[in-house]
Amino acid sequence: QVIDVSKLGNSGYFTFDPGFTSTASCESKITYIDGDNGILLHRGFPIEQLAKEASFLEVCYILLNGEAPGKEEFSKFERDIKHHTMVHEQIHRLFNGFRRDSHPMAVLCGVTGALAAFYHQGLDVENPEHRRLTAYRLLSKMPTVAAMCYKYSIGHPFVQPKNKLSYAGNFLHMMFATPAEEYVVNPILEKAMDKIMILHADHEQNASTSTVRTAGSSGANPFACIAAGIASLWGPAHGGANEACLKMLEEIKTVEHIPEYIARAKDKNDSFRLMGFGHRVYKNYDPRATVMRETCHEVLNELGIHDDLLEVAMELERIALNDPYFIERKLYPNVDFYSGIILKAMNIPASMFTVIFAISRTIGWISHWIEMHEEGMKIARPRQLYTGYVQRDFKSKL
Ligand code: ACO
Repeated sequence: QVIDVSKLGNSGYFTFDPGFTSTASCESKITYIDGDNGILLHRGFPIEQLAKEASFLEVCYILLNGEAPGKEEFSKFERDIKHHTMVHEQIHRLFNGFRRDSHPMAVLCGVTGALAAFYHQGLDVENPEHRRLTAYRLLSKMPTVAAMCYKYSIGHPFVQPKNKLSYAGNFLHMMFATPAEEYVVNPILEKAMDKIMILHADHEQNASTSTVRTAGSSGANPFACIAAGIASLWGPAHGGANEACLKMLEEIKTVEHIPEYIARAKDKNDSFRLMGFGHRVYKNYDPRATVMRETCHEVLNELGIHDDLLEVAMELERIALNDPYFIERKLYPNVDFYSGIILKAMNIPASMFTVIFAISRTIGWISHWIEMHEEGMKIARPRQLYTGYVQRDFKSKL
């Protein structure tokens, strides 16, 4: 809708586009989505190929640099990343200020924001080398902080990173090792975690990435910008959907209850929505959901786990995809529909699902933040359509 604001005391025209359904906020070379045909490319590479052939760190390199790394470039990149896995001792103490039963996303948001206090003096966001170092620090420290959030919540001591492990393996080590027992990383779980991270690495201008760009457009500290992204990711309409989806599947419990939930999702007087279903851009199957569903089967088979929730999820998908309500609105499973079942099989508690999404999306956030600085930016400043009072006289009622 184009609004003539000249009658509102301003000059010129602007568009009224709630939720930015048809407004591009920037140009970007990082990620391409064709929502009608279910295509997702990172720097031109299809997500299916990356999930099959690449490691998460390789995808990080590609997102940051635009090209796939050669052997030497990758070794250096991996060394650089691993150099920063530890966090300042003061950060350890910071945790004591949080309640043990806090949601880990609340703690992650707070601690990531606090990193700005450690990396601010001397940080010049206009300097490309400083920006690169910031990306490395964030990428390295996020799994460490995330695992600390978990350990703190269960009252266990923090586990230091082990740099000889892979990125995903190191995260699992920090989550599950204890001083009492040696933890050997299961290669099936390590591979599954790596794939989950690849599938969540970037998704162009979603709510959290747009938040990071908006916060960064004023020249703000990048650690604070990423904390803003984490806050945006937490909501159930975005990254919080993976936790909400598993809760929904557990509530449905058996296939017999599915019709009741489908009916609720279609009822406009009920706020319930099928979690892990629908997407602003995909009007076809989310290609990440296809890979996630395959991975879910693989992981459960390899671990010899039978989970009734997988049957519930598959039947729910089958029924929804044959229902006119979902067909007309082009609602398909998204990346979060199957991820919870895999993470549950890996003994990850549901409250950590969105935290793992945040670890994975950090590379997307920081790649966009860097691109915005490289391209030169204008401060993000949307307009509004004022619907309040016209001018009136104030008289105190006291
Ligand atoms: N269940 C039932 N109905 C739905 C669902 C759903 N999951 N998603 C959308 N609809 C319906 C809406 O009620 C609306 O119906 P109407 O035309 O009769 O009013 C229509 O489909 C269009 O929905 P909008 O909300 O306008 O679509 P929008 O693009 O704004 O929202 C969103 C996209 C937020 C993802 C939505 O589909 C949703 O809430 N899904 C469930 C939460 C979820 O899975 N989020 C994760 C997204 S992926 C990610 O962030 C990683």
